[in-house]
Amino acid sequence: MENYFKKTVLHLQGYSAPPQRQMRAKLNQNESPFDLPAEFKKQVLATAAALSWNRYPMNESSDLKQAIASWHGLQSDQVLLGNGSNQLLQTVLSAAVAENDRVLLFPPTFGLFEIFGVLYGGNVLTLPQAPSDPFPMAEALRRIQSEQPRIILLCSPNNPTGALLSLPQVETLCEQACGLVFLDEAYAEFSGQTAIPLLKKYPQLIISRTFSKAFSLAGLRLGYLLASAECIYQLRKANLPYNVNLLTELIAMQLLEDRETMLRQVSELVKERDWLLSEMQRIPTIRPFPSAANFILFHCPYADLVFDRLKDQGILVRNVGGYPLLKDHLRVSIGRHEENQWFLEALKASLS
Ligand SMILES: Cc1ncc(COP(=O)(O)O)c(C=O)c1O
Repeated sequence: MENYFKKTVLHLQGYSAPPQRQMRAKLNQNESPFDLPAEFKKQVLATAAALSWNRYPMNESSDLKQAIASWHGLQSDQVLLGNGSNQLLQTVLSAAVAENDRVLLFPPTFGLFEIFGVLYGGNVLTLPQAPSDPFPMAEALRRIQSEQPRIILLCSPNNPTGALLSLPQVETLCEQACGLVFLDEAYAEFSGQTAIPLLKKYPQLIISRTFSKAFSLAGLRLGYLLASAECIYQLRKANLPYNVNLLTELIAMQLLEDRETMLRQVSELVKERDWLLSEMQRIPTIRPFPSAANFILFHCPYADLVFDRLKDQGILVRNVGGYPLLKDHLRVSIGRHEENQWFLEALKASLS
């Protein structure tokens, strides 16, 4: 294939998505453990049946943009919709990064940051941050000054560590940045914090959100970007047309009308997370890290073996040992209480 593809693609590993096998507890992809109620699905499918499926959907539903904008106290021209936030990340990097532009990121972080950075010819600069360490702000500011990155990619709460950047930290980075600042807030609902108020001040800040986590909609693919209207205007040119299908639009509109139910589930998961963390802290051989998201990262000896033993007991977690600085680390998503209990029992058995 050497004659057909860019060298960067030939050398890329690509994003490896775990197989979707039925397990007793699937705690490996940070999805919501709560599916939407059967009655809701039935009703929405009946509404969808009456639509014309032979016609294109709206290119960017203005109702959906308006609903998202008013939820966040913004204008609808500050919203860009996508087929999941991954697709929008690709849009941002395709629009911003030219050959050899510098892209600054802080691994271990979301794997697609580096993949898309490389794919678009970026010169990816990394500033590693161990999960127990504070954000390397002084070094970040030095690198921003010396390297002038075209874009800084941040994730808060960070996947896979669960660490949260404070708003003053985001603000400091925005103040110093000469290029775009992309902030992935896929897990913001679980942290009770968002940098959305900073959009007023920083026209180069882009916030990425998703319906895949708190809103139980990973299977239907909906993400959105929030930024200044000027920034969204440019990004729109690089975005795929018709990237949100009829059904997704319909369901998202209904979920937004009943936000309270979704946010109640978020507080249930936050309680579960805090309970699970305290239980894990009582296991002497592992080291769990506090998390602001719907997952917990932990260090454990012989993590590869523990991962296999958990899987043998029907518990699927994520082995993140391949990320920089995360040798012998696993990540568990917060499930229903019963699933979290199964995980704890299986973990203790696997460690013994
Ligand atoms: C940090 C982060 N951003 C984005 C995504 C993907 O979101 P979406 O399903 O909206 O593409 C994930 C999924 O795991 C994630 O961890």
